[in-house]
Amino acid sequence: MNKKYIVGNWKSNKTEPDIEIWFQIISDKLAPGKNSITQETTVVVCPVYTHLPLVKKLIEKYQLPIHIGAQDISPFDTGAYTGEVAGVQIAQYAEYVLVGHSERRKYFHEDDALLQQKVKQAQFHNLSVIYCVPDDKTAVATGVNIVAYEPVWAIGTGKTDTGENANKVAASIKKSSKVQTVLYGGSVTDLNCNEFLTQKNIDGLLPGSASLDAIKFWNLINNVTST
Ligand code: PGA
Repeated sequence: MNKKYIVGNWKSNKTEPDIEIWFQIISDKLAPGKNSITQETTVVVCPVYTHLPLVKKLIEKYQLPIHIGAQDISPFDTGAYTGEVAGVQIAQYAEYVLVGHSERRKYFHEDDALLQQKVKQAQFHNLSVIYCVPDDKTAVATGVNIVAYEPVWAIGTGKTDTGENANKVAASIKKSSKVQTVLYGGSVTDLNCNEFLTQKNIDGLLPGSASLDAIKFWNLINNVTST
């Protein structure tokens, strides 16, 4: 059985008190001796940079089988790059990093050359890259570990791709990029996730808004572990 991923992208949401509550709820389900996540499932949450230490602290406190991802990474090493967070700084807290999310491409005009630099920094600091693309025509940078297929029109709209088409796109991405793991993202919820999880070429999910609610996220984890 292939490994399945569920990666919650919190985007620019949540305050520290919100995060404390989210972890209280999740720990009720996932703490040792309660429900367990199967070996085949990897759960990741991606908070904003400033919340990385708190998320790490809470995962340790409740001993949860949850991994941490950053939502972005500087294309440069440490140095005079005001406002940027470098790979070495992220790697103190996270194992994963999102690169090329469509919101970064759209609002911050990130292009392929810049994204390749970010992937290089991530690789240098042993961060696994989850590289987001809106379709199978978009180039995938070299050195990427996981690709997330997220059609722009499906992000935050409540509309999803069909499982069948997402599977086709995932297969095509695997073929052209040689990346073995492709996730689907775009309005994924605990109610529609099975359509994607049952597809041969889809290896997990990248939910945004459904990951903000701990109960919905827990339901998603349950679906991933049982398919
Ligand atoms: P959404 O976001 O689940 O809220 O559509 C997904 C994403 O942008 O990663």
